[in-house]
Amino acid sequence: MSAILPPADRLWYKHPIDRVEGTWIAIALLWCIILFVMMTGWHIWGKQNLSTETYRSTPAQFMEKAQAMVDKYTVRTETEEKIPVVAPPAGSDVYLLARLWNFWPILELEKDKTYRLHLTALDYNHGFSLQPANINIQLVPGFEHVVTVTPNESGTYSLVCNEYCGIGHHRMVSRLYVK
Ligand code: CUA
Repeated sequence: MSAILPPADRLWYKHPIDRVEGTWIAIALLWCIILFVMMTGWHIWGKQNLSTETYRSTPAQFMEKAQAMVDKYTVRTETEEKIPVVAPPAGSDVYLLARLWNFWPILELEKDKTYRLHLTALDYNHGFSLQPANINIQLVPGFEHVVTVTPNESGTYSLVCNEYCGIGHHRMVSRLYVK
């Protein structure tokens, strides 16, 4: 038999398994089981689970709350689209929405203060990817996702949409300030 020609006996499943092959199958199976157990364990002890606090919402409802926050706490505007930069008080509810193709508003948070961050998408699916903290959240229209955050490092974070959302997807970026 050669590797080029087809095997003479085509019923491969009737061949006895070679010791080496059997060993590799056993190792692979064992590794699968270890990874599966780790996956479950990480879910319990890994402290990396996403908040499950989610509510049904409509663009109008969310916009009303976001607009109220923006009206009250805007400190300046940035970018050529004149996106408001909002510095809400520590401990408050803050709102951030994603839409074709920007994030609104830009948030300016205080270090070591806790906020309830409300997120939504107004039109289609968008992504909330906060870098370099590497936090990834999918923003789904019709749902308000609440994440309790306590920024522990000051700086300017990049905010990127990581769900493909059409022709302007690649320029759907923003920032988040922590002072
Ligand atoms: Cu929004 Cu991609």
